[in-house]
Amino acid sequence: MFIITASQVQAQDAAQKAKLANVSILATGGTIAGSGASSTTTIGYTAATVGVQQLIKAVPELSKVANVSGEQVFQIASESMTNDHWLALGKRVNTLLAQSNVDGIVITHGTDTLEETAYFLNLVVKSRKPVVLVGAMRPSTAMSADGPINLYNAVLLAADPGAAGKGVMVAMGDQIHGARDVSKTNTSTPDAFKTLDLGMMGYIQGGKPYFYHVSTRKHTADTEFDISGLNALPQVDIVYGYANMNPVALDAFVAAGAKGIIHAGTGDGSLAAKVKPALSNARKNGTLIVRSSRVGQGIVARNGEANDDELDFVVSDTLNPQKARILLMLALTKTNNSKDIQRMFYNY
Ligand code: SIN
Repeated sequence: MFIITASQVQAQDAAQKAKLANVSILATGGTIAGSGASSTTTIGYTAATVGVQQLIKAVPELSKVANVSGEQVFQIASESMTNDHWLALGKRVNTLLAQSNVDGIVITHGTDTLEETAYFLNLVVKSRKPVVLVGAMRPSTAMSADGPINLYNAVLLAADPGAAGKGVMVAMGDQIHGARDVSKTNTSTPDAFKTLDLGMMGYIQGGKPYFYHVSTRKHTADTEFDISGLNALPQVDIVYGYANMNPVALDAFVAAGAKGIIHAGTGDGSLAAKVKPALSNARKNGTLIVRSSRVGQGIVARNGEANDDELDFVVSDTLNPQKARILLMLALTKTNNSKDIQRMFYNY
């Protein structure tokens, strides 16, 4: 009979831990950290109440797939995310990923602006190590809360060497999505995250990620954007296209100092007759104008619904308005040249 001593058990544990990847979990709040009055409360709960250590403790299985550490970077509902939060988060992610003892990062986040934070990081993270955003559509106290399994999958993904170099990813509902192309498509159901026309990256099943598709657009270490010396981003606002649209919101944004405007136009980014002169004037006075679309899928064609060459406008390609805003802010930290910015919209 063999007797295993306590020190042998400790040595086995240490050897086991040494084989696992080190994953930092950065918590920012949201429904994944939310709590409700009862197990059936799936709306009307409070987001951002549960701390990162409690989130980790709720999923003891994490210790089998990675050495996880937790850091509470913010505790907010994601509709209140600001450019300042993004700059702070991006810098923290870059600092951690530069350390040899960090193999990947998971960011827990509210779902409302998760796609925006993911795309911002996709453009500013200077590393090929995996970065995965994760949220939940049901609060942690709900029956069938989706947070724990989503967090487990996100850590699995961030710990997987096969996830390196693929850009920032989103792990929701057993699926892997690319930051550039994913959107929240439902107000409340657990399957809200979809990459509608360009296709998701893959699945997480049986404790393993399976990849099928990656974006051809540049990301992370291959972008020209560097936030290390930035304390603010240029003001860029979105004006929404609709029947009977008027230029009041556009004029107000420009008067308030907007350096760029995303026009979330109808159809293929079309411009209402009442609004086109105001957009043209804004451009002549130095504000960058990007024609995007409120439709949510498809390319906005350059010189299609408007003569962009003549108006000196940029088109968003397939980026939705909220992601076009992020790229334009970062573009404006490098240049005011519309041709150069158009190149960026076709590259990223
Ligand atoms: C939020 O975005 O913080 C609230 C909604 C959610 O996380 O699902």
